[in-house]
Amino acid sequence: MTTTAAATGVPDRMRAAWIDALGPAENIRCGELPVPVPGPTDVLVRVSAVAVDHVDTFVRSGAYRTPTPFPFVVGRDLAGTVAAAGAGAPGFAVGEAVWCNSLGHGGRQGAAAEYAVVPADRLYRLPPGVDPVTAAAVAHPSATAHLALGRAGLRAGETVYVAGGAGHVGGAAVVLAARAGARVVASAGAADLGYCRALGADVVLDYRAADLAGQLRDAAPDGVDVHLDTSGRDDLAGAVDVLAFRGRILLVAGVTARPELPAGPLYMKDGRVIGFAISNARVAELAGAAVRIDQLLAQGALAPRAIEELPLGEAAEAHRRLETGRARGTRLILRP
Ligand SMILES: NC(=O)c1ccc[n+]([C@@H]2O[C@H](COP(=O)([O-])OP(=O)(O)OC[C@H]3O[C@@H](n4cnc5c(N)ncnc54)[C@H](OP(=O)(O)O)[C@@H]3O)[C@@H](O)[C@H]2O)c1
Repeated sequence: MTTTAAATGVPDRMRAAWIDALGPAENIRCGELPVPVPGPTDVLVRVSAVAVDHVDTFVRSGAYRTPTPFPFVVGRDLAGTVAAAGAGAPGFAVGEAVWCNSLGHGGRQGAAAEYAVVPADRLYRLPPGVDPVTAAAVAHPSATAHLALGRAGLRAGETVYVAGGAGHVGGAAVVLAARAGARVVASAGAADLGYCRALGADVVLDYRAADLAGQLRDAAPDGVDVHLDTSGRDDLAGAVDVLAFRGRILLVAGVTARPELPAGPLYMKDGRVIGFAISNARVAELAGAAVRIDQLLAQGALAPRAIEELPLGEAAEAHRRLETGRARGTRLILRP
């Protein structure tokens, strides 16, 4: 380390939201912890915005098993500024605006604190002029959509169906797929169809329509090349039915879903079912997604529909709201 926390005037203690044991949202405490000390290849970030993601609740509850050294600071995505950088983390200047979307799992402490240690290869520069709250809000859903569509090998000219196209992941998928030159069919609630169209969807379908399957077949007469359902329903029978020859079904949601897979019809189409969880993404894959996200952030092409900013002390309530569906359409952002 050339630069230590003490050398840059960083305090010894900070406010943080953490758990001492896996369990319900009530386990989240908010108080003071020591400021973490970065290692030689780390950067200490002064955190200004922390997104609250579904996956944070899975990590907190234990639904998603990953090392969580206690006291374990919750939260995965942050935006902030560089407070100190190790000798092995060259190129990051104190005060520079940065973001990260892979803390809070795999043994790494989380983001919901005034300061966070980020491995330099998981930290990305924020383009000039981009609002850090916006960056924190779009990071997780956009990286998920980018990497999932990439995993499915989406190509220009193909037809992609995005179920839940007005959601955070679904909306990002619509933007990314449209900009990749795909033909985008999206489903959403009736009130959200215009929003999906504005994001770039070519065809929008009301997911509550009685004949949704028929409408989807009409919208994709040659079949759906990439089928992405962000709602967690994971209707594999319906997905296989509408799948194109050599189509790919992406599974990204529905932790408890146990649908039946029509194996015969799937293999007869040379079809594939691909699971994707961003928690498994490699450092280089995340960095590749960050390049694309930074490009789109700089163009103003990625923006959450609505943001609600909350103080760090509301972390437990933010988790509860996500778990009970009381954050519909809104990204909850903690401001340490
Ligand atoms: N695999 C990964 O790496 C990864 C990463 C991030 C998130 N996720 C998961 O992805 C899911 C979506 O996350 P999100 O943040 O995008 O949530 P979200 O914003 O709530 O989006 C879900 C969308 O699905 C819509 N929907 C509900 N029922 C539907 C149906 N029957 N058909 C079509 N759409 C329907 C919802 O519409 P209404 O508002 O009308 O209900 C909403 O717009 C979550 O389960 C999350 O855990 C996975």
